[in-house]
Amino acid sequence: MRLCVNIDHFATLREARGGLEPDPVTAAQICELHGAEGIVCHLREDRRHINDRDLRLLRDMVKTKLDLEMAITDEILQIAVETLPDLVTFVPEKRKELTTESGLDVIREAEKVAHAVRMMHENDIEVSLFVDPIDEQVEAAAETGADVIEIHTGEFANARSIEEMAEQLERIRKAAAFARTLELGVNAGHGINYQNVHYITPIRDIEEVSIGHSLVARAMFVGLPTAVKDMVRLVRGF
Ligand code: PXP
Repeated sequence: MRLCVNIDHFATLREARGGLEPDPVTAAQICELHGAEGIVCHLREDRRHINDRDLRLLRDMVKTKLDLEMAITDEILQIAVETLPDLVTFVPEKRKELTTESGLDVIREAEKVAHAVRMMHENDIEVSLFVDPIDEQVEAAAETGADVIEIHTGEFANARSIEEMAEQLERIRKAAAFARTLELGVNAGHGINYQNVHYITPIRDIEEVSIGHSLVARAMFVGLPTAVKDMVRLVRGF
């Protein structure tokens, strides 16, 4: 399994003072240096953390893989075409949410999603759809022509009992296996941390995890190189 680091919250901290530090671009370089196999950033409509300058510089500096998380809006689709990330991950976006709260409703938005997927493919950009672990959503994702799904692990991460966690884990496992039968690549993300990642790593159908908040939080105490190296070790399963 590969670790991709979501660097949004370095920008969140920078925006707390509106200055230049900490620079998420520097953070991305340190993450790559210490074993991250991809960098993820979310360019939100309200630019609350990552901004256009960050994305431009990240495109220049990231040597592994740049995954742009984004809502399907005309403005951000145009930016994606101009920036050419390696992968885009389409997510739903609500103005007032603290973080992405659920997967895309691909069934309801099938036409819009399929159109956006085609637009990215015309520009040689791979597409991932962030979906809840529900077979019908996975099937709808495959029908749009997307290359990959990212399974929303938020409900698993927020489970309040071992039983609930086991139930959520089983949903994730089944959705990942189903996606593979449809020849979709499978990523996972949201709420994965140093304590729960070992439940995810045995799921062989998941190729990649996208981890942000817990890694940035740990970096504050142990430093970013150690936080990345520790998570790389856990994600690789040793
Ligand atoms: N994947 C997606 C689609 C997300 O929206 C986020 C949060 O930005 C993550 C992964 C990372 O989640 P976390 O910050 O909880 O690790």
